Amino acid sequence: MHQTQWTAVDDYLEHQLIPQDAVLDAILKHSDAAGLPSINVAPNQGKMLMLMAQSIQAQRILEVGTLGGYSTVWLARALPKQGRLITLEIDPHYATVARQNFAQAGYQDLIELRLGSALESLEQLAQEGLPPFDFIFIDADKENNTRYFEWALQLVRVGGIIIVDNVVRSGAVIEADSPDSRVQGVRRLMERIAQEPRVQATAIQTVGSKGYDGFALIHVIA
Ligand code: SAH
Ligand code: DHB
Ligand code: MG
Repeated sequence: MHQTQWTAVDDYLEHQLIPQDAVLDAILKHSDAAGLPSINVAPNQGKMLMLMAQSIQAQRILEVGTLGGYSTVWLARALPKQGRLITLEIDPHYATVARQNFAQAGYQDLIELRLGSALESLEQLAQEGLPPFDFIFIDADKENNTRYFEWALQLVRVGGIIIVDNVVRSGAVIEADSPDSRVQGVRRLMERIAQEPRVQATAIQTVGSKGYDGFALIHVIA
């Protein structure tokens, strides 16, 4: 049982549960044509993010790591008309493609992309004193996961949700001596979460069209 089967099962689940979607298809097509890597969440994962944000009636969402804006648009669909989504991206080319995708999809008023290092953008966001976010999706450079988590704790409301993508990395997360800085980034995050009394957290392994990985689900309780 391996990648071929995981992909076939994802195809089946998507066929059953996720209607053909011209807007999201166009985002992937345009991102691919513009040379972006296809490291976006899978459709069933994107819909899970939307459902999670919907289930807490999120009005304000923050995303760290935009790429072409595929996960961003899934998340934006959870929002009411007066909602707001801020997404952070360091790569100018990716940001241009994402902004085009948002405009094409009709989300340019709901979504604000901030170009630059996410750490700097997060500091800026904190200084602006905006109302807190209900839902935060962390999906950027894994080396900075712990720093992003610290900022997320500052920027999220009590009762809010933080999701961190890619915390299993084909199982490499258990390799304490891994030379992969992304694996070490995930391991530091796990240790940090474990000693944080303001949250309750779990992590789930996933297989599917995007391989073997996983996500952490963090509920901010104080
Ligand atoms: N969330 C997207 C995928 C994001 S891929 C989706 O599922 O559709 C990770 C993204 O994080 C890439 O676009 C990468 O350029 C961006 N990134 C990497 N380091 C970053 C940094 N320091 N600040 C902001 N964005 C960063
Ligand atoms: C990578 C990043 C992601 O956000 C992802 O979902 C898969 C892979 C990567 O950097 O390799
Ligand atoms: Mg990811």
